[in-house]
Amino acid sequence: MGNRVRTAVLISGRGSNLRALAEASRAHDYPAEIVLAISNRADAAGLQVAEEYGIPAQIVPHGDFESRETFDAGIDAALREADVSLVCAAGFMRIHSEWFVKRWEGRLINVHPSLLPAFPGIRVHRQALDAGVKVSGCTVHFVVPELDSGPIIAQAAVPVLPGDTPETLAARVLEEEHKLYPEALRLVASGNVRLESARAVSR
Ligand code: GRF
Repeated sequence: MGNRVRTAVLISGRGSNLRALAEASRAHDYPAEIVLAISNRADAAGLQVAEEYGIPAQIVPHGDFESRETFDAGIDAALREADVSLVCAAGFMRIHSEWFVKRWEGRLINVHPSLLPAFPGIRVHRQALDAGVKVSGCTVHFVVPELDSGPIIAQAAVPVLPGDTPETLAARVLEEEHKLYPEALRLVASGNVRLESARAVSR
């Protein structure tokens, strides 16, 4: 299929969501094609995943840049060089500058391991356990300048079980992320969900 949406995945670590997206895009009728992986860390295990799937990878080390804006400009240059139209953050541990978010508005999505707006930020599963919720889950959303708070594209719920630790809950949520993220990317790449429509629904 020649007209699939050219999509990049931003990673910082393990890359299991990159694997899920790469696996989904192996199907010829999947509307997105993963054409680039970018990591801000040279030691990210996810770089091996990219190699395994034959996805070109670039390392853009944040330490080489003097500001968030210049780092984001480096990422932006790599995205434009690869003629990318959609960007999926998947365990990418850098906060984007407002400039970058505005530039990619409606074309930049992220997965977060909670049912947003509950538990944004870090130590998400610890937050969920401390709050005593009985259900947690994951969210794929459009990225906006405020952290972990853009219009929601898709969510999946996961039970919190007696005796859960942050690790056991994280593992259960991660399994759902691997199903949800490819579905959410499908919705966006096919044009069935757009920023404005997601916004309207979330109002
Ligand atoms: C996922 O749980 C994601 O929701 C969070 O970081 C983790 C990344 O995992 N933002 P991986 O690198 O995709 O395996």
